[in-house]
Parts: sequence; C-alpha cells; structure tokens
Amino acid sequence: MENILEELVERNRYLTSRGKVADYIPELAKADSKALGICIIDLNGQVYKSGNCNDRFTMQSISKVVNLICALEDNPLDKLLSKISFEPTADGFNSITSLETKNANKPLNPMINSGAIVTVSMLNGNTGKEKYERALEIFKKMTDNEDLKLNQDVYKSEKATASRNRALAYYMHSTGIIDGDVEDILEAYFKLCSLEINCIDIANIGAVLANDGISPITGEVITTPQIAKTVKAIMSTCGMYDASGSVAVNIGIPSKSGVGGGIMSSVPRKMGIGIFGPALDPKGNSIAGLKLLSDISKTFDLGIY
Ligand code: DON
Repeated sequence: MENILEELVERNRYLTSRGKVADYIPELAKADSKALGICIIDLNGQVYKSGNCNDRFTMQSISKVVNLICALEDNPLDKLLSKISFEPTADGFNSITSLETKNANKPLNPMINSGAIVTVSMLNGNTGKEKYERALEIFKKMTDNEDLKLNQDVYKSEKATASRNRALAYYMHSTGIIDGDVEDILEAYFKLCSLEINCIDIANIGAVLANDGISPITGEVITTPQIAKTVKAIMSTCGMYDASGSVAVNIGIPSKSGVGGGIMSSVPRKMGIGIFGPALDPKGNSIAGLKLLSDISKTFDLGIY
C-alpha cells in the first residue's frame, strides 16, 4: 500500500507548481508550496503514510466539520436548523451576498464561513473561551491527539485580517441569527481554524466518521452513527465549496478542504484519508491534493456513488 501511495504522491507533486499558497492570511503564505503528503487509516486501525505526511499545517476550514459534530452533540437538530440550513451553494466560502438575498438570512450550510461562525456560536459554553474549550475536547478525540495546539502566529494573523468574517458575523447578529458577544464568538472560530495538525490527525477524523463515530484506533465512541452520517452527507454536498459537485462526480468521496492545504476525506466503512498540499486552486482547494485524492479513489475504487 505505501509503495502505491509513494508512487501517486510523486506522480502528482509537479501539480503543486500550478497552484498558489493562500496569502489572504499573511502567516499562511509561509507554507512550503511544493509539499504533498498523505495518510490513510483503515477501519482495522492500520496507518499508511507517504510524502510530507508529518508536516504541520493549520486546520482552517476542516475545523468546520468538527465544529458541526460538536454543535450536533450540543443541540437538538431542530434548534440547529432554525439558525442554519444544510443546502449547498455555488458561492465562494466567504460570500456575503447569499446571506441577504437567499434563505431568509440563514447561512446556507455549516461548511461556509457564515455557517461555521453560527455553528461555533451554538456550542455549549457561556463565553467564547468556554465554547473553544468544549470544541477542543472533541477535536482531541477526533484526531486521537491529546497534544493538539493552537498555532499562535496563524491565530494572530487570522484575527488581524478578519474584516470579512467580522462583516458576516455582525450582519448575522443584526438579524438575530447570532446571539451573544460577536467578538467573543469570532475568537473561538479563529482559534479552531488555527489548530495545528498533520495528515495523520485529519486521517483520524475521516476514519472516525467512516466508522460511524467510533475511533478505529482507540475503540472509543466519540459521536453517534446518525451524526457521522449527517456530517458525511454535508461534506459530500458542501465540503469542497463551489467545487463540491465536480468532486462528487469525479472523486465520489465525502471530503472537506481548508486553505491551509489540508483535505480530510472519509470513505464510509472503509477508511479516513488525510492529504496536505498547500498550493491551492482558484477555489481554495489543494490543487495537487485533489488530483491525488482522485487517483486514490480510482486506484482503490472508493467512490460511493
Ligand atoms: O475564515 C477563514 O477565512 C479561514 N480561516 C478558514 C477558511 C477556509 O479554510 C476556507 N477554505 N477553503
């Protein structure tokens, strides 16, 4: 298996030169644009790795998946659905326009920034700090990494350049979708985006979801089969932003990307896949990572449709 992974990583590495590392958060621009790595964890707990699989990067939008798991644990579904929909969008991940023009002020889904900020606002806890700490418990379990930490430089950079996220959050506060202190909630959202991980950590998240909420490594029940199913469905329809449709057609694996270069994928009842390649395509997805995922899907016949 590792020989095949090695071959696929090296075959696709040239694509990194066709993408661009995210620079709208200045600290992210420091990533090694040539990096490409992968980790697969199957449901027997076997771990397969190749390429830059130990490189550290920040969670960014992959955090939205774990935030959603946590919000579904902490709220009845109808309460969550009163604040957020589960519908895909063809708009970009930080789009402002859809909030006012579509769907009566509710964010269309939890995988875009507006939806993720609402998701964080609904976590258990009275303050942003308590919400962050509540989410961190689940992040540590999902990644099987007790040492999960914040990258302080990315966090500060993210916070200093977040006018767009502030605009989304204050707008949603004005319409009553977000309750409480907006800055406090944004603080928790920025911190969760800035958690530092590697391919192994995110392969673990995918593997727990693939195994209906139970860690194949530790055997711990982390969430319910119903929540795992809901989250995988939302990853399939919304996880790769406005490329979600083509990823479903061409790759067919529920996945979630982040602008740090990560892609976290979950093949139901088979495996979790974590990929890192910080050079991004124009939609914000890892350019070489997506082609690597496509090759893996074809080689092992993993598409779910
Ligand atoms: O909110 C932001 O701008 C980022 N920290 C997270 C966005 C992100 O990763 C979008 N991804 N493709």
